[in-house]
Amino acid sequence: MKLTRLRGFQDYLGADARALSMVEDCARTVAYRHALNEIRIPTLERIELYERSSGETSDIVQKQLYRVPRAAEAAGEGDQALRPEGTPGVIRAYIEAGLDRSDPEQRFFYCGSMYRYERPQKGRLRQFNQFGVEIFGRADAASDAELIIMIDEFRRALGLEVTFEVNSLGDAACRPAFRAALLEWGRTHYAELCDDCHQRLERNPLRLLDCKTDAVLARTAPHSLDYLCDPCRGHFATVERLIKIADVPYVVNPQLVRGLDYYNRTTFEVTSSAVGAQSAIVAGGRYDGLVEALGGAAAPGTGFAIGIERTALAISADRYATGGAPDAAIIAIGDAAVAGAIALARELRASGLRIELLSPERGLKALLRRADRGGARHALIIGENELAAGVVQMRDLRASTQNTVARGEVAAALAAARG
Ligand code: HAM
Repeated sequence: MKLTRLRGFQDYLGADARALSMVEDCARTVAYRHALNEIRIPTLERIELYERSSGETSDIVQKQLYRVPRAAEAAGEGDQALRPEGTPGVIRAYIEAGLDRSDPEQRFFYCGSMYRYERPQKGRLRQFNQFGVEIFGRADAASDAELIIMIDEFRRALGLEVTFEVNSLGDAACRPAFRAALLEWGRTHYAELCDDCHQRLERNPLRLLDCKTDAVLARTAPHSLDYLCDPCRGHFATVERLIKIADVPYVVNPQLVRGLDYYNRTTFEVTSSAVGAQSAIVAGGRYDGLVEALGGAAAPGTGFAIGIERTALAISADRYATGGAPDAAIIAIGDAAVAGAIALARELRASGLRIELLSPERGLKALLRRADRGGARHALIIGENELAAGVVQMRDLRASTQNTVARGEVAAALAAARG
């Protein structure tokens, strides 16, 4: 059998890999400026963790978990799965470290691969990466607004045009009335609803709102915003006021319910039209009951996750296409020059330049072609004579001109050529 990659699993080479790194680096920079702390958690967890958080009725748990049968053999540890999202694991770690009781206000970011057994398509993979942020111990609307503003800084730094969609799902006080209204609406329209929605009606009527098949009908369904209690209404009004002042381009989408069960109050999604059908590049919201539901103290929480691959699809290729090209490729002529070429490469790299050292085992013409194909602007040719004289031949591969340059001046000449 030919050894190919699995469906929904991707290789990223060169510029494509660079685009992912660029998205991650940008998210890290923003997280750093917001004084967040990094957290690293395992990829494998107990399935029960996801059943009790993402939700037993969610697609993630029902259909998409990558169960790991070998792990189930580990006596007494329960069935296990690769993480489909980061939030439950971060909460488990927060509780396990005792922070929910000793120091509940925490601000974390994480970055890593997630696994969901989905039908692959553009922007929808079975292994993908998320950059997530979770804030614990803050019930105030300003913490939700800070997250949205953080995402706005991130997308601006990458030059992305996006739409922020926000909604409020209410809380334990007002959600039951909304749920009941949705149930009644679903029962009234039962005959018009698709088979999936018949299931949703029984298990989780909120999901009726984001059915793709019944999208037109769903627009006639009740909205959570009409059922908010006064505290939830006030919370949402403050979030809106703060993000408006911060100039975030948002719309209220009363149909936005999200596929995970743990949200209450503020939810949001950030979409980009540059990605295709899978347009949500960031999503998140508040989950005040979740820490307690997972066995911790009653600490509120709010967060989001950026889809790294989807965001990379949205950024314009000219922002990363040329970033990998070396400033110069060094060509050593003759065995005696190889050690000198390595020393020159070290000197130049130490001054921050990107240097490729070519194989000494091919002819000059072939090496110059190789340097050009690799995207280097200059080739630095060094043989025994150059070594003895303390110079290099510096060839401009675009202009096809060549000069003798003193070794000590090469770094400055290359840096100047970068512009
Ligand atoms: P989510 O909406 O399931 O939320 O995922 C967040 C983002 O991850 C999506 O908007 C999308 O960009 C990316 N994503 C999800 N599934 C895939 C996939 N199959 N292929 C490629 N990208 C994908 C969560 O995961 C929550 N844990 C977010 C959160 C954190 N809420 C509060 N804190």
